[in-house]
Amino acid sequence: MSVRRLAEDELQPAQFKFTRDNARWAKQTIGKYPKGRQASAVIPLLMRAQDQDGWVTKAAIERVAEMLDMPFIRVLEVATFYTQFQLAPVGTKAHVQVCGTTPCMLRGARDLIKVCKSRIGEQQFQTNEDGTLSWEEVECQGACVNAPMVMIGRDTYEDLTPERLDEIMEAFAVGKGDTITPGPQIDRITSAPVGGLTCLTEDPAVKKTKRRANGAAGAAKAKSAPAPSLDDKNRPKGIKKPAQADDLKLISGVGPKLEKVLHGLGIYTFGQVAKWKKAEREWVDGYLKFKGRIERDDWVRQAKALAKGGEAEYVRVFGKKPR
Ligand code: FES
Repeated sequence: MSVRRLAEDELQPAQFKFTRDNARWAKQTIGKYPKGRQASAVIPLLMRAQDQDGWVTKAAIERVAEMLDMPFIRVLEVATFYTQFQLAPVGTKAHVQVCGTTPCMLRGARDLIKVCKSRIGEQQFQTNEDGTLSWEEVECQGACVNAPMVMIGRDTYEDLTPERLDEIMEAFAVGKGDTITPGPQIDRITSAPVGGLTCLTEDPAVKKTKRRANGAAGAAKAKSAPAPSLDDKNRPKGIKKPAQADDLKLISGVGPKLEKVLHGLGIYTFGQVAKWKKAEREWVDGYLKFKGRIERDDWVRQAKALAKGGEAEYVRVFGKKPR
């Protein structure tokens, strides 16, 4: 791991101040912790300072220490420990963190680093000519199963080839990073096996029912758990695709594939999801074979916040950005 120190004095601004919105947010965040435990807010506050200025300055560390009544050294320890915190200015559009730990290295991280060097610059933290991109090598980011991978901002991009990384960097460089879906860059869902499931291909509940039914002489034919009928009265009302559909992927638990399925049901807006009653949620849950995930992820509350005030309202309600 590279040595992590604060940037040279000449790069450090004299002061740090949270914007009015961020200061309000910081106050709320600190208020979530019991009295005397406000130090627990150190990571969110440092991250917000980084989101605001692009990197964590010495003045920001001092300000966060002051706000949380912590010694400067304690906040400095946190900022210098986690590679998620940038201690010097980085690319304005993307800072690419390439995992160089063993699983990623064995699966091609060296070739990804070559792409970074040729596209951005030989040295880590050096920016490209127009200052939009920079890179560094980091330790394991916890996505080894989909190695090799890089992290950009808060997202990971996995199962990479040098060509795909080059495309991703190009998209970020021209300000279109949000068109790239994070996660695996090959056709697999999260960390499921490449090429589709090899086991647990049948719903265990269905299997059990079948076994019971087969064992009972003259018993009625085993019933599988059919998806609820599309004509069911509890199916949420769909609409025609509007000119401006909402990005349903902002709801935690909805990925690109699920979004397509929801579109197929005529669900295009946060407002629609926000109005789902219990029976409708159960219908969608059954249709997606989700086993309660809609409730667990609280889609309705998420959709309500997004419908009311977009990402800003989501951040206000959940204390973090959507997704
Ligand atoms: S080794 Fe690269 S993510 Fe773990």
